[in-house]
Amino acid sequence: MGKIIGVVSIKGGVGKTTSTCNLASALANQFGKKVLAVDGNFSAPNLGLYLGINCPTATLHDVLAKKSSIANAVYDSGFGFKIVPSQLRGPEKVAYYDLKIHLEKLRNDYDYILIDSSPNLNHEILATMMASDELLVVSTPDHPTLDGTMNAVKIAKRKKTPITGIILNKVYNKGFEVKIDEIEIAADCPVVALLPHDLKVMEALSKTMPVHLYAPNTEVMVEFNKLAALIAGEQYTDPRLWARLTSTIGLREVKPEENRQKLLQEYTNGKK
Ligand SMILES: Nc1ncnc2c1ncn2[C@@H]1O[C@H](COP(=O)(O)OP(=O)(O)OP(=O)(O)O)[C@@H](O)[C@H]1O
Ligand SMILES: [Mg+2]
Repeated sequence: MGKIIGVVSIKGGVGKTTSTCNLASALANQFGKKVLAVDGNFSAPNLGLYLGINCPTATLHDVLAKKSSIANAVYDSGFGFKIVPSQLRGPEKVAYYDLKIHLEKLRNDYDYILIDSSPNLNHEILATMMASDELLVVSTPDHPTLDGTMNAVKIAKRKKTPITGIILNKVYNKGFEVKIDEIEIAADCPVVALLPHDLKVMEALSKTMPVHLYAPNTEVMVEFNKLAALIAGEQYTDPRLWARLTSTIGLREVKPEENRQKLLQEYTNGKK
C-alpha cells in the first residue's frame, strides 16, 4: 500500500513545489518507486508548470468540483513519475476535503503519493494535512519562516498527522542564518535535509525539468536522494568522494545525516 506524504509550509516561496518535484524524481529515478505528485495548492497552482504541463484537460479542480474522475486527471510528467495538476477554473466551488477520498482511490497504484501544499493557513493546507500519512515541513533559515514552521508543526500535531522532519532550504551557510539546533528546538522536529541556495535549481525550473535530470550531482540533488532514501527505507551513499571525505573530517554539517540515520534505524526497528 502506498504512503501519502504532504509537503507543507506556512510561508510562500520556501521550496515546497521544488521539493515535491525533486523528491518525486529521486524516489522514481534513483530508487525505482512508483510515484504520483499532486498539486494541492489550489489557489495558486503551479506544480504542472514546473514540469511543462501547461493546459491539462482535467485537473484536480475538476475532480474536486465533481466534473472528472481522479483517474482522468493523472498525467505522465515525462520524468519517471505521474502528476495530478491543479488549475484555476473560475469561481466554482471545490470540495477541498474530498482530496483524501480521491487519493485513497489511488493509494494502491503507487509506492508514494506526494502532495504539494498551499502556504496559506486555510482549507487547502488542512486538506493536505488530513489526506497525508505523514508530512515534510519546508523551511528556510530565517526567523519569519521559522515562525511559520513552528505553526505548521503545531497544527499538524493538532491534526495528529506525524511529521517526518524539516527540509531546510535555500541555505547560504552565513552567520546571520538561524542555526539548525535552534530550528530543531523551536519547531520540536529534526532537520532531515539541508539544501543550499543554488542557481541550478532555478536553471532547472527555466528548463521545466527536475534538478535530478538537469544537474544530478549537485549538493541539492544528492540531498534529495538522501531524503528519498530515508523515505524508501534504503541506504544511499553520496557518489561524491570529496563530500564523503569532508564529512568524515568534520568540515560539513552532519546533523541532517545523523537525523536520517537515527530515523532509518527507528523505521527498521519498527518503532515508527
Ligand atoms: N535551493 C534552492 N536554490 C535556489 N532557488 C531555489 C531553491 N529552492 C527553490 N528555489 C526557487 O525559489 C522559488 C520558489 O520555490 P517554490 O516554488 O518551490 O516555493 P513554494 O514553497 O512552492 O512557493 P509557494 O508557496 O508560492 O507555492 C522558485 O523560483 C525556485 O526555483
Ligand atoms: Mg509551490
